[in-house]
Amino acid sequence: MNTAGPQQNLSDARAAKTGVCSCVVGLQWGDEGKGKIVDLLAGEHDAVVRFNGGANAGHSVVVAGSRYALHLIPSGILYPGKLAVIGNGVVVDPWKLVEEMDGLAGRGVDISGLVVSDRAHVVLPYHKQEDALREDLLNRGSDADGAGNIGTTRRGIGPAYADKCQRAGAVRMGDLFRDEALAERIGLALSIKKPMLDGLGASSDNDASALIRSCKDAARRIGAARVRDTTRLLHDTLDAGKRVLFEGANGTLLDVDHGTYPYVTGSSCVSSGVGTGTGVPAARLSRVIGVMKAYTTRVGAGPLPTELNDNTAHRIRERGREYGTTTGRPRRVGWLDLVATRYSATINGATGLALTMLDVLSGFDEVRVCTSYRVNGEQTDWFTPDALALAGAEPVWTTLPGWSDDLSGCRRRTDLPVNARKYVDFLESFIGAPAQIVSVGPGREQTMLE
Ligand code: GDP
Ligand code: IMO
Ligand code: MG
Repeated sequence: MNTAGPQQNLSDARAAKTGVCSCVVGLQWGDEGKGKIVDLLAGEHDAVVRFNGGANAGHSVVVAGSRYALHLIPSGILYPGKLAVIGNGVVVDPWKLVEEMDGLAGRGVDISGLVVSDRAHVVLPYHKQEDALREDLLNRGSDADGAGNIGTTRRGIGPAYADKCQRAGAVRMGDLFRDEALAERIGLALSIKKPMLDGLGASSDNDASALIRSCKDAARRIGAARVRDTTRLLHDTLDAGKRVLFEGANGTLLDVDHGTYPYVTGSSCVSSGVGTGTGVPAARLSRVIGVMKAYTTRVGAGPLPTELNDNTAHRIRERGREYGTTTGRPRRVGWLDLVATRYSATINGATGLALTMLDVLSGFDEVRVCTSYRVNGEQTDWFTPDALALAGAEPVWTTLPGWSDDLSGCRRRTDLPVNARKYVDFLESFIGAPAQIVSVGPGREQTMLE
């Protein structure tokens, strides 16, 4: 007997007809190697979609020895003709987008599959000015350790998301192609931004007609045909039985709600951000891959309980080339924080892990992982994203034996030295999710799939 109600039957029928959705998210403070993993998985998907962030992201992909740094364009673009969607949840700097499109096209990459949501908000020059100004003022106003600012990428991300919520005067990608709306929105925005920036002493060159001209020029180079209702496009793609891969930017611990606020970015970096950032319900995700490094890094300010400032940090930073893809800043480095990554896996509903940079840990006699914190004399293994509380958290370590072999040529889990295998086993069982991908180098081929 069929006990399902009509609603159940309807959703079963729909699911049978529609395609599969997967998602890749970062489980730490960004730069986990999401670009590499997305590129790897893109081969078995028909579309790759960015749903959050903007040009603060820097996703590196290495294919056949050539390195590509992607900031706004999804990391699936390196597969010719693949649909590469910038969803409505992304904030788009149109000039950066043009630069990135030109850079890829100039290297012979086919960018014909690139599509941008007409509802994605535009990052304008005054957003970047405001971002930089706020950072400088906060830094000056802070105490001696200079931790008053966030250490943003200064790409205008926070101010652009703030204006999205402010509404009046905000510009969306579709507006770039509507002369009257563009002039009206920019006029409104400048009536607020100009006095604000001038008052704060910023040298403001925010002339409305020059800005409108520049916007239109960028829009022309992006092309009206690319800027569309991507929500409809994605649902049509899924209805045709195709496979869609969502590419998270930044990281769970930088998420505006679930990260170490206020030292976070302005968007939803977690798997549930797919719903708001694209219009495809997050409930459609059948696979959520949480990407994590075999150790921890962070760029910018904010607590990092396992941070190291010694020779070990130096070794990891140099071996892992831990310098920002977007800003070139040296990344802060620490041992793997399993309390933090398990929290992130929980928040995202990770069905599997992609462990990157395992090769970087070769050569240590012992490796450490943080398995709980001591906070105010009490031991806890639940992560608190509260920045103040986390700043007082002292890591409690588990020490595991290290390995000395070069891992970069390993292609199967059984190729790994026994202590490296034990390391992977330990973190899988602590987090409670399988490491379905283990990466031992930046190249597409330097990967073990389970
Ligand atoms: P994303 O922002 O998460 O995409 O990460 P980034 O691209 O900013 O930083 C990751 C860096 O590590 C890039 O330079 C990658 O090429 C590199 N990378 C990715 N996976 C591995 C790995 O398994 N081993 C090593 N040594 N490098 C890797
Ligand atoms: P990917 O996608 C690492 C950090 C900045 C800063 C904070 C806020 O490459 O992993 P923002 O400019 O977003 O307002 O900065 O967030 N941050 C990242 N750190 N990787 C990223 O992206 C990041 N995106 C933002 O360093 O601390
Ligand atoms: Mg990065």
